[in-house]
Amino acid sequence: MADHHAQTPVGAGLPMLPSLRWDEPPEGPVLVLLDQTRLPVEEAELVCTDVPALVAAIRTLAVRGAPLLGIAGAYGVALAAARGFDVEDAAEQLARARPTAVNLGYGVRRARDAHRAACARGSGPAVAAAAALDEARKLHAEDAEASTRMAGFGLALLDELLPGGGHRILTHCNTGALVSGGEGTAFAVALSAHRAGRLRRLWVDETRPLLQGARLTAYEAARNGMAYTLLTDNAAGSLLAAGEVDAVLIGADRIAADGSVANKVGSYPLAVLAKYHHVPFVVVAPTTTIDLATRDGASIEVEQRPGHEVTELMAPQVVVAGVEAGGGMPVAPLGTQAYNPAFDITPPELVTAIVTERGALSPVTGDGIAELTVRSRRG
Ligand code: MRU
Repeated sequence: MADHHAQTPVGAGLPMLPSLRWDEPPEGPVLVLLDQTRLPVEEAELVCTDVPALVAAIRTLAVRGAPLLGIAGAYGVALAAARGFDVEDAAEQLARARPTAVNLGYGVRRARDAHRAACARGSGPAVAAAAALDEARKLHAEDAEASTRMAGFGLALLDELLPGGGHRILTHCNTGALVSGGEGTAFAVALSAHRAGRLRRLWVDETRPLLQGARLTAYEAARNGMAYTLLTDNAAGSLLAAGEVDAVLIGADRIAADGSVANKVGSYPLAVLAKYHHVPFVVVAPTTTIDLATRDGASIEVEQRPGHEVTELMAPQVVVAGVEAGGGMPVAPLGTQAYNPAFDITPPELVTAIVTERGALSPVTGDGIAELTVRSRRG
């Protein structure tokens, strides 16, 4: 079951509600999400008391973005365990909620394996549930730490690639605190440039059709006092042609073993544009987003979403209802078919560098990816 809690006003300078938190009110443990479908109009919390509610929140993008999906998945397993539901079944439902972000399955597996290990040691349900929760908390903290490290490595790379100083960065989708245990991936790099006085402008792609750039990245940029400008996705080409962009920075939902990057649809055209205009195209993602089991870009499953997200304009307040049943403002004749992949794949040769919490990889090759992953597993 899910329920909406009190809403707080949205505005620059006010502390942002956490994108996700575990709570234990007298009625029992809950996972509380900042409902991203309602931003930027209002900050509303969505309280999940069971796994079906969390699965629905994942599918409707109330909680979204690769690293946060992993954290939410892990807490979802902990929630099932703490509430006495079937943990194995919960883990399966959660892992299947969205197909592309590899972090979701990773987070689910970590909490499930911690639960399994506790059960195998002969622990009772309460101790096994506590083990799953501990693992979710550990993953949450690790992601926050990875975010800080990526911000440092990413800014150092920008300074090296762009020795001139004031960086003008174009970004796509949303990659900030709303997708992370910390300050995010690509957005965290832009934020650290801003704090260091080296961000001249953050160009924010609106990110059709669900407007993660306009609704969420602009919201985070405003809250952080960054100099930012919103543009339609279609305007990126002329902006690059005008020489207004020094680097393109995006996150990733899955990085295959050959270095192919799945990210929000519209990332690949930006990579092609960046190559043509000799602008660095940098992907920022934790090593948990690397999936060595996926050989190449063609092997990545790309989520296909309902056509009405394209044929209707989804105002923030109706995204939840809209994803399941329509309800946005029609912008195409009734019955129009739509092509609506949530992600696209950028081949490694178009990626200047991948920045992880272990450092930056450039050029991007399969061998480099393997080495980075081995290093990360060695700790
Ligand atoms: O469909 P979404 O909003 O979950 O897509 C999110 C993205 O594509 C992000 O760019 C990606 O998860 C990286 S976030 C660090």
